[in-house]
Amino acid sequence: MSKLWGGRFTKETNKLVEVFTASINFDQKLAFEDIEGSLAHVQMLSECNIIPKNDAETIKNGLLTIKQKIENGEVQFSVENEDIHMNIEKLLIDEIGPVGGKLHTGRSRNDQVATDMHLYLRNQTLNIIELVKGVQTALLQQAEEHVHTILPGYTHLQRAQPVSFAHHLLAYFWMFERDKDRLQDSLKRINWSPLGSGALAGTTFPINRSKTAELLGFDKVYPNSMDAVSDRDFIVEFLSISSLLMTHISRLSEELVIWSSQEFQFIELDDSFCTGSSIMPQKKNPDVPELLRAKTGRVYGNLVGLLTVLKGLPLAYNKDMQEDKEGMFDTVETLDGSLRLLAPMIETMTVNADKMYAAVAQDYSNATDIADYLVTKGLPFRQAHEVIGKTVLYAIEQKKFLLALTMDEYKQFHELFEEDIYDVLQPKNVVEARNSEGGTSSEQVKLQIIVAKQSLQ
Ligand code: ARG
Repeated sequence: MSKLWGGRFTKETNKLVEVFTASINFDQKLAFEDIEGSLAHVQMLSECNIIPKNDAETIKNGLLTIKQKIENGEVQFSVENEDIHMNIEKLLIDEIGPVGGKLHTGRSRNDQVATDMHLYLRNQTLNIIELVKGVQTALLQQAEEHVHTILPGYTHLQRAQPVSFAHHLLAYFWMFERDKDRLQDSLKRINWSPLGSGALAGTTFPINRSKTAELLGFDKVYPNSMDAVSDRDFIVEFLSISSLLMTHISRLSEELVIWSSQEFQFIELDDSFCTGSSIMPQKKNPDVPELLRAKTGRVYGNLVGLLTVLKGLPLAYNKDMQEDKEGMFDTVETLDGSLRLLAPMIETMTVNADKMYAAVAQDYSNATDIADYLVTKGLPFRQAHEVIGKTVLYAIEQKKFLLALTMDEYKQFHELFEEDIYDVLQPKNVVEARNSEGGTSSEQVKLQIIVAKQSLQ
């Protein structure tokens, strides 16, 4: 088969080289973006009188026919035509004849592929923002139902202070809010148009880059053609934001795994989101959060992979850059699938408020509160800490929780203790007492829910 670039060659391409250098097996995902870019390009060529109007019309109609055929699954892409750009150009020429060859006037595959990637990532970023919102909505729904549900809050995975379950869930809401913010911000840079930069140096034709940028909905054109065709920062940025997003998904997933274990039993995932064991009939495994945790690895890998490809590349385009695609597609698919599962899994999980409360009632996580109690009675905090440390040690030795110590026992440690200490120690009061801004009291959590709702609108 003759190549679109065959003129300068005297030999057929080695078959292995053809397969090795082809990207069509994966970049066919860009087919519609490629056609979108071509439609804008040909429109501009015609408006700038670079090609005749009727030729432009023929090309546009040809491109639309090919689009339709791709949608109908009637198109076979070929490795001989290397990538999506040359495949579509070949299909166009087959469809409308030699006039199709005018499409590539004043353009190179280098600015073409960059344009496709910008268009693709813009669509996907908008899609992922919506999916993150879905997860936030599910977290918010559960939070609204569990403002008064109390569970141990942990540091070092040791019980630290009791918190509202809503407060714990909303911590993830804000992580996702920042991810969304980063995605939104990255759109500013994704939305630059490389089209019209040619191979690297611009073109001899009197093109209008602002026109194609406008037609494609880009905010501005790259001011430098060499930068335009070699820039993959926007993909690195996407992979890096995705890595952080996956980190958050993974941390939340880890908590779901722990909470649904027999040891905790704080939550139960819905049957429809779990799987069984082929040998142990009693098992109900949290495979989904486990896989979400694990899939974080491939997203980090994709980030490091692309950074490594780009490191040390001279200007301008290098074939190395073709390796920017699979990691990006894989990341998009991983995120899309993960977020689509995470939202309904959170929505449908059952929360065992009794188990959570039972855990809080059987620990020493109200110790800070007795320290604070002595402080309000005038003792410096450091001294209070020391006194309570001894009190807790004594209680542990007696195998008693703090609520079970008698007044006489308390008095042994400090004369400032009085009957009201037993109120202070109630888990509910411990939570409600943390009414500082952003704290876990129900008043603060309700305020937080209002702000969270506003940011979702
Ligand atoms: N398939 C190529 C890529 O993805 C398109 C650009 C090829 N340009 C070239 N001069 N070989 O990077």
